[in-house]
Amino acid sequence: VLPLALVCSLDARHRFEPERLSATCPGDGAPLLVEYPHRSLDRAAVARGPWSMWRYREMLPVDAAEEPVTLGEGSTPLIPAPQLAAELRLDVPLYVKDESQNPTGSFKSRGMSVAVTRARRLGAAALVAPSAGNAGGALAAYGARAQLPVIVFLPRDTPAILIEECETYGARVELVDGLIDDAGKRAAEFAAATGAFNMATLREPYRIEGKKTMGYELIEELGGPPAAIVYPTGGGTGLIGMWKAFDELEACGWIGRRRPKMIAVQAEGCAPIVRAFEENAPSARCWDDAFTAAWGLRVPSALGDRLMLRAIRESGGTAIAVSEADLLSGMAAMRTREGIDASEEGGAAVAALRVALDRGMHPDGPIVLFNTGSALKYAPRRAAATGAAAFA
Ligand SMILES: Cc1ncc(COP(=O)(O)O)c(C=O)c1O
Repeated sequence: VLPLALVCSLDARHRFEPERLSATCPGDGAPLLVEYPHRSLDRAAVARGPWSMWRYREMLPVDAAEEPVTLGEGSTPLIPAPQLAAELRLDVPLYVKDESQNPTGSFKSRGMSVAVTRARRLGAAALVAPSAGNAGGALAAYGARAQLPVIVFLPRDTPAILIEECETYGARVELVDGLIDDAGKRAAEFAAATGAFNMATLREPYRIEGKKTMGYELIEELGGPPAAIVYPTGGGTGLIGMWKAFDELEACGWIGRRRPKMIAVQAEGCAPIVRAFEENAPSARCWDDAFTAAWGLRVPSALGDRLMLRAIRESGGTAIAVSEADLLSGMAAMRTREGIDASEEGGAAVAALRVALDRGMHPDGPIVLFNTGSALKYAPRRAAATGAAAFA
């Protein structure tokens, strides 16, 4: 039995034991988060660990003897971006955390590695998830690695290459009319009807545990917290996961109380978190007619809305929506100035940093932009899109 508890993110009095497959809190439907009773992360053990996110396994939900379902995810490079910094007239160091270098070309690998490890251990017979694309490909790959059947529900207009990615790892793909929330309803119905385990964002507690390792890596690489993190935000697991990581690292004595400003980036065509942030609301309303070429950001409503808004506010950060033109030119800037395989989501982070600086943000230390995935994943769709001109 692992020494950890599952705690409701809305009401910490609701606690659950971790040794069975868990979804959201049965009391109020809020996401469950993993709590570790121990407060230690040995630097020497981390340094001796594998060159992957599993170097932090003391603070991940596996016991010492367990072999995780891994493809070498994490330990992605933190790449200095001096040309981009000069263009933005920054006088502090700028870095890009390049998540495109994960096994399935996006940061989704991290979450699926942990979640599939737990699902296998707890006896799931089949795994199902809705996805904007990248999460589905990651689930398909890690499901194959664990030899568990995978069914992915995708919006019908998902780029062909993402559908093919899932299928070539052996997953079954179901296309759904509508967006990821419609795919989410179908995945939940399928799980209820068949007993497959639902791996949708924050509907199970372990994907976020993988995502949090992005925060662990930043602290290990920089030796402390950066001044700001600019993060392309859809379902929010990356943002919420890193925020959780900083609390854990403080409890382990790796950092003090100072936190980076968390800057959540969305596209103007789908910005429910930005709207809620600006309205000072505790939760976000569903966004109608969501559209953006940054596929991973096309999330009209997120189960983690409260957690995201809380993290942004507590950090003294902000939420910024960027136009399609600006996210495409941000992508072009990261590619042409630094040679980094920026996707539209990474481009959105560049564009948002420009906005934050224009609004008078004065960072007093390093800034980290996240390039959450590879551009190659959307290539066929991009060639057909009008925005391709920005790429010429
Ligand atoms: C490339 C990319 N970036 C960002 C996101 C948004 O991620 P999160 O759920 O952590 O907000 C996604 C989600 O699909 C994605 O695929």
